[in-house]
Amino acid sequence: MSIQILKEVSLKPFNTFKMDVAARVLIQVNDLNEVAASLDYAKYNSDEIFVLGRGSNVLFTKDVDKIVIANCITGMDIIAETDAHVFVRAGGGVCWHDIVMFCIERNFQGIENLALIPGNAGAAPMQNIGAYGVELKDVFEELTAIEISTGSTVVFRSADCNFGYRESVFKNKFKNQFIITSITLRLNKIPSFNISYGAIQHILDEKNIVSLSPSAIAEAVMEIRRSKLPNPEVIGNAGSFFKNPVVSKSKFLALQITYPNISGYPQPNDTMKLAAGWLIENSGPEQGVSWKGYRVGDAGCHAKQALVLVNHGNATGKEIYDLSSRIVQSVRDTFDVQLEREVNIY
Ligand code: EPU
Repeated sequence: MSIQILKEVSLKPFNTFKMDVAARVLIQVNDLNEVAASLDYAKYNSDEIFVLGRGSNVLFTKDVDKIVIANCITGMDIIAETDAHVFVRAGGGVCWHDIVMFCIERNFQGIENLALIPGNAGAAPMQNIGAYGVELKDVFEELTAIEISTGSTVVFRSADCNFGYRESVFKNKFKNQFIITSITLRLNKIPSFNISYGAIQHILDEKNIVSLSPSAIAEAVMEIRRSKLPNPEVIGNAGSFFKNPVVSKSKFLALQITYPNISGYPQPNDTMKLAAGWLIENSGPEQGVSWKGYRVGDAGCHAKQALVLVNHGNATGKEIYDLSSRIVQSVRDTFDVQLEREVNIY
């Protein structure tokens, strides 16, 4: 078994923020044998491992003085079928959007709202990706992962993953402990569409689409995303940089007195989820200046979606991080609300 071991390579092509940091060692693994071989190599060299997917949810602020294993495991198959469901398994390195396309082409319903989310299959369960009223957990069946310390294969069912809002065990208890080698999704043959997000309905109406289909909804979602979210191929970013913060209903009502336009959605247990984009747009570096569209050097806050931080060219990870810290501070000063970063910081 031979694996290709690259030394001192730039990770710029491996992260959507386009940070030009170096990996001491980079190994791209294409199958389970190569995963095993790279774990052996790390063990032999008593070296630490950093697992990377498509790098769409990470901000590198420094070089990675570790063995970076890039998950490039491909393959996508229908592995089972019942009257109601189809089960699709994809390798951990498959591009997420390719899975969406695979499903909509076959009229399998369930992930059309998650079209165009950057990243790999293996990263999808890590932060329980979500958009437009649907989360990965809604269609998740199981995943297989290799435990880095032992090399053994472990199957995780939904309950084992402890999915929450942009959360799972892989971001918490099991952080950096597993390489997700495949995921299996449960898609519907009998559709149950979610068009609760207003803008989807709006686009469907505009296009006079009365008969819903996975592809019609995916098209609408892609149109919304393209209108607001920067394409990482063109401008470096990692999607929402912060999570939408959850506050008590009483806190929300108090804020609403001062800020009648504040945007929030009811959550269980008398809490409200605030739109972090609104909080950021309505605070700023100085009186009368909004963060939205703000730029310092090449680090900026996207002009169409304040929740997204962008690299206009040659920003460093530290510059983006420093900008994010100023935003956190200003939102805290203005609204007494604490923002939490959604992107993993390295
Ligand atoms: N808003 C503003 N100003 C902004 C941005 C947003 O006022 O600059 C307010 C508006 O009131 C808007 C509301 O925030 O109605 C919600 O905005 P949007 O629909 O764009 O969604 P979001 O809450 O900002 C979340 C996810 C996105 C996902 C969208 C759509 C998180 C952290 N982000 O953003 O996910 O695409 O909903 O479902 O939950 C990602 O995780 O990387 C991501 C892009």
